[in-house]
Amino acid sequence: MSGPGRGVAPAAREVYLDHAATTPMRSEVAQAVADAGLRLWANPSSVHAAGRRARAAVDGARARLAGLLGGNPHHWVFTSGGTEANNLAVQGAARAAARRGRRHLVVSAIEHHSVLDTAEALRRVGWQVDLVPPGPDGRVAAADVRAALRPNTGLCCLMVANNEVGALQPVRDVAEACRAVGAVLHADAVAAAGRLPLCVDELGADLLSVSAHKIYGPKGVGALYIRPGLEIEPLLHGGGQERRWRPGTENVPGIVGFGVAADCAAAELAAEGQRLRALGAALADAVQAAGGGAVPTGPADWGQRIPGLASFVFPGMDGEALLVSLDLQGVRAGAGSACVSGSLRPSHVLLAMGVAPEAAAAALRVSLGRESGPGDIQALVAALRVAVRRQGAPAAAP
Ligand SMILES: Cc1ncc(COP(=O)(O)O)c(C=O)c1O
Repeated sequence: MSGPGRGVAPAAREVYLDHAATTPMRSEVAQAVADAGLRLWANPSSVHAAGRRARAAVDGARARLAGLLGGNPHHWVFTSGGTEANNLAVQGAARAAARRGRRHLVVSAIEHHSVLDTAEALRRVGWQVDLVPPGPDGRVAAADVRAALRPNTGLCCLMVANNEVGALQPVRDVAEACRAVGAVLHADAVAAAGRLPLCVDELGADLLSVSAHKIYGPKGVGALYIRPGLEIEPLLHGGGQERRWRPGTENVPGIVGFGVAADCAAAELAAEGQRLRALGAALADAVQAAGGGAVPTGPADWGQRIPGLASFVFPGMDGEALLVSLDLQGVRAGAGSACVSGSLRPSHVLLAMGVAPEAAAAALRVSLGRESGPGDIQALVAALRVAVRRQGAPAAAP
């Protein structure tokens, strides 16, 4: 394949294996974004015909999102991305819960930093926060979450699937437990949406976050589903847009692009999920056979993982040197989540799973996408053999 970074003119063939960090925009999406920029520039709040056209496009995208993820289309609220959706969910629901005298938060230890750091901010203003660790395979047990819930729990956060090790989480079971104590459940579906069949009503989550750039849509656009009847406080004030949950003039081209990306994902979901699940399993076998002592992380059962996402640690290896060597050979893989990869600190997810800090420091995340094929796996394995040999570790014979 040719990678998405064509504009940067890579020297050699580029193999992009970091789709969990972001995905290249689909051509259909790029076209729709450009068209909307040219034709739908009016303010969707304007009552004239041009404004009404822009409004109709925003509402059309909302319906397309509901087509992919279910729920009442009017309750999908557009935001500036997954980070804002998570902040709106956690802070907005927490403020509403505090008014009901509930100031206890249960949050899984493997959440994205946009949830964990928001929980930490709540702790600083007097909330009691309980972190629930995962098992060694990266899956949080519903029973552990249930045990942490209390009569004064206002909010519980459990992601649908982890973005670093791909582990699916028991959101449905946790939803029942939350309902029993009257706690609100927020589920971050940023890593899972568009890769697994999901329906917000079937999941039973009260709040669900998603992000466009993870499903071949534009960056800087996300959405939060707010279950009908749920009370949350907006974080921003100053306008009536998005039913007051998220005021500010809408990013019409981005939202339109998100709608097209959601539509395409819905059409390809079943076939692409099956293809990537098989390709991901083949990749995991090939990486382990390449030498270097790769230890897979996350569930061994591919039915309990995001299709196409494989993750490993290389105990005793220099993780940064490994990634740099792959990069120099044209292979773009991830160290863990994109947000921590700049600093290459051991991932909080791996540490919570009980991986030793030295091993967690040499982590590799390979995430396939719609342009990935068997040739990319061969390229990765060839590059990995070179990278491993450079560190003096025995590489398996080709
Ligand atoms: C699970 C998860 N949640 C939230 C986010 C943040 O989304 P965004 O990049 O749209 O702010 C990410 C991004 O990596 C993610 O993986």
